[in-house]
Formats: sequence, C-alpha cells, structure tokens
Amino acid sequence: MNFKGKDIVSIRDLSREDIDQVLDLAERMIPYAKGEIFTKALDGRILANLFFEPSTRTHMSFSTAMSRLGGRTMEMAHPSMMSVAKGETLTDTIRMVESYSDVIVLRHPHEGSARLAAHFSSKPVINAGDGAGQHPTQTLLDLFTIRREFKRIEDVKVALVGDLKYGRTVHSLAEALTMFGAEVTFVAPANLQMPRETVRQVEKLGGKPKLTSKLEEVIKEVDVLYVTRIQKERFPDPAEYQKIAGVYRIDNDLLREAKRDLIVMHPLPRVDEIAPEVDGTEHARYFVQAFNGVPVRMALLLLVLGGEL
Ligand code: CP
Repeated sequence: MNFKGKDIVSIRDLSREDIDQVLDLAERMIPYAKGEIFTKALDGRILANLFFEPSTRTHMSFSTAMSRLGGRTMEMAHPSMMSVAKGETLTDTIRMVESYSDVIVLRHPHEGSARLAAHFSSKPVINAGDGAGQHPTQTLLDLFTIRREFKRIEDVKVALVGDLKYGRTVHSLAEALTMFGAEVTFVAPANLQMPRETVRQVEKLGGKPKLTSKLEEVIKEVDVLYVTRIQKERFPDPAEYQKIAGVYRIDNDLLREAKRDLIVMHPLPRVDEIAPEVDGTEHARYFVQAFNGVPVRMALLLLVLGGEL
C-alpha cells in the first residue's frame, strides 16, 4: 500500500504486506533511532501530539521519532487548559489542529475517537490508543520485537497473559500474530478472558487459540510471555479489580520452568505483574520493546508523510 496521507486507526486496516513494509523500514531506522546517524527527512514537518489520557512511551517515542527525523512536534496543554474544558468537541479540536500540523497522533479515552478524528481530518491521524479499542503502533512494535528476536513470527508460541478483556494492546496483537502464523494462548481469569469477538476473529484468520486461566500449564512450552497490567481505570466496580489484582506475577521462580530463550514482553507500564528481579535476566525484553517504539514510529511517520531518507 502507498501509506502517504493514510490514517493508521486499526491494525485491521493493514495487510501482512503493509506490516512487513513498516517493519522492514523500521530495521533501517535503528541507527537513526539510536542517534548514531542523522537525517533531516521530515525537516519542516509538524506532528501534533494530542494525548487526552496518560502516556509515557507512546507520547515520548512519537516525539523522539519525529525529532530524529528532523521534524518538530506540537504538544497540547493538559486537557484542563484546552478549550475542551469549555465544552469544545473533539471534532472541532481536530479541525483546528489539522490546520496547525501535518500529522496528528491521538490518544483518547473513547473507543472510536481515532476513527472519528480521521473522518474530520484531511491530515493523517495515527491512533495512539482509543479507550479499550485499538493501539496499532503498539502492535507494530510488538511484532517488530518478536521478529527481531526469533528472526520470524510464524510458529512462535506466544502466551498473552493478564487482563485480556480491557487491555487494548492484546486484542490487535492477537489478530496480527495469527495473521503472521504465530500460535497464541490466552491466559486470564475467566472474567478477564479475551473477548469472544477477538477469539472469533483469530479463528477466522486460521488460528486455534488455547484459553486457560493457569499460567503453569503453558510456561514450559511458550517462546514469549506477553504480560499485561490489569487495567484498573477501566473497571466499572473497584471491588472487582481488587479481587484479581496481582493474580499473575512473573518472577524468577516461575521462569525457572521456562525455555532458556523465552522472552518476557510487556507494553508497560507495569505495576506488580513482573518482579524487578526479572529485569536483570536474559528473559527480560520489555525495555528493548519500549525502545523499539522509536524506529517503528519513525518508519510509520516517514511513510505517511512521504519522506525520503
Ligand atoms: N505501551 C503504552 O502505550 O505505554 P504508555 O501508556 O506509557 O504510552
């Protein structure tokens, strides 16, 4: 696909070939992302960062990616200091911001907000997470991390662990992994299991997902443990959150049961799903994964803005 001017709202909008195109370019971006070599490929371009929900990695890695490409970023004030606090709608905000920038990166608590913004913007909109919906650039960097590690994605056995109901990163990841031929297992308490719609979609793509609540059943056989935070902020009832907080905790005792080359991934932030003692082991990949957001987002920005190295 020719990415120039395209919105990136859902991973479902991208074919396997499209994803490979982004990941191949991301490989080339690594020395730029590390600051080893420099480019002005997006000199004069402006990225608008609109974050209506907290973020560390997505926000900062988009800023870094744009800066490493020689472009600039425009940061919105805290929502309480924006005219949204006076009742301005998201669509009106987008109509303003599109005239101030060349690409809009949007994180918003409402599912569907990025699609709405894309409808009203003539400039490309990149979804940086819409409520419990999609987070396509996280999926891209997750695929990139697995592909770099195992030199393939096909046949890699991936266990998605934790809050599979509200954790938006795992919905799109489960589908994308299946599209690339990985084997997925969903490990979650019954009330936080993968939504039926995602399970059906994985099956439609040819996957045979295994569903379990017992991590010990799968720890010996998987190549990737993709751990997620229980999304406290999305629970309607705080008492329900308390019942399951801390149900899965990855520590060195558990990892003694794992394959030697198993990697532990996490979109971060973590709370207490992964013990700090794991950070120093050969299994930990979550900080590398977070860095990979930079080359992947650089590749995407270069493609949607039609820049050339
Ligand atoms: N993984 C991720 O989306 O992290 P942030 O919420 O910090 O952006």
